[in-house]
Amino acid sequence: MSRDKVFVTRELPPATLDRLRKHCEVEVWQEFLPPDYEIICGKAGDLAGLLSLLTDRIDPQLMDAGPNLKVISNLAVGYDNIDIPAASQRGIPVGNTPGVLNDTTADFAFALMMAVARRIPEGQRYVQDGKWKTWHPTVLAGQDIFGSTLGIIGSGRIGAAVARRAQGFDMRLLVNSLETEEEIRQLGGEKVDLDFLLTESDFVSLHVPLTDETHHLISERELGLMKPTAILVNTARGSVLDPEALFAALRDGKILAAGLDVTDPEPIPLDDPLLTLDNCLIVPHIASASVATRTKMADMAVDNVIAGLRGERLPTCVNPEVYD
Ligand code: DGY
Repeated sequence: MSRDKVFVTRELPPATLDRLRKHCEVEVWQEFLPPDYEIICGKAGDLAGLLSLLTDRIDPQLMDAGPNLKVISNLAVGYDNIDIPAASQRGIPVGNTPGVLNDTTADFAFALMMAVARRIPEGQRYVQDGKWKTWHPTVLAGQDIFGSTLGIIGSGRIGAAVARRAQGFDMRLLVNSLETEEEIRQLGGEKVDLDFLLTESDFVSLHVPLTDETHHLISERELGLMKPTAILVNTARGSVLDPEALFAALRDGKILAAGLDVTDPEPIPLDDPLLTLDNCLIVPHIASASVATRTKMADMAVDNVIAGLRGERLPTCVNPEVYD
């Protein structure tokens, strides 16, 4: 009997792949850069499973090219790269990797906040450029984090992990999210509307998924409400922020600085004006990138594939309606 075929769109830890190979025939894309969309479509006809990354666009056309697909498993908690209604329509369960990256990502949101507020990258450049001649009272003076006001937009699992950290910094915590007032109070925060949060916060951290509603959630009007000393951090998805409005706000001093783990598009083109700004720290979508967490994410993604091939419910399924 021929074995199910699964295409894995990037190299994963060897032990994780070995586990998958016990259940199916596995093809792994060996290149550093993602396979082109057409390449995945070309392979789809033979596939029972697809283990994708957030860089792979999985749309209805691709699904139609793979009529035998039993499972799509995304190695990410976010799944805005996949057309979920289309997958559900075709009865294909889609898996993601929630939970394991909450603390790693929350640590990183704080790392960005602290790096920007305390001007750490600028400090490194200052030393490398030979500018460190003496101790000086005003050189590279930044903003305090302790005792400041943090606004969290979206308090799902990652937002809640950021809220827990904020308590250790004695921060006043404002939260704009769908959770109830009581749930937010339990996080040590106060449920507020978006405009109030933007007006009051010294730091704003984004933790919403990318949907039609959150696309450009923070644009010119919202940035205009923020304090000129405020710092904005994005570890969610690039297009939750309007990049042109952000550039103008940073350039014109409407807000003090930003720390971005995610951009729109990704990777950010080298001629993007945001890269010309000293008050914008940009890193390449690495908030969940600890060795331990990325290994757990790979394991979860493989668990979803194995369950899908067996016709079992995916342990972490984003479209459970396929089982109705
Ligand atoms: C995710 O999982 O969605 C992150 O953006 C990458 O870890």
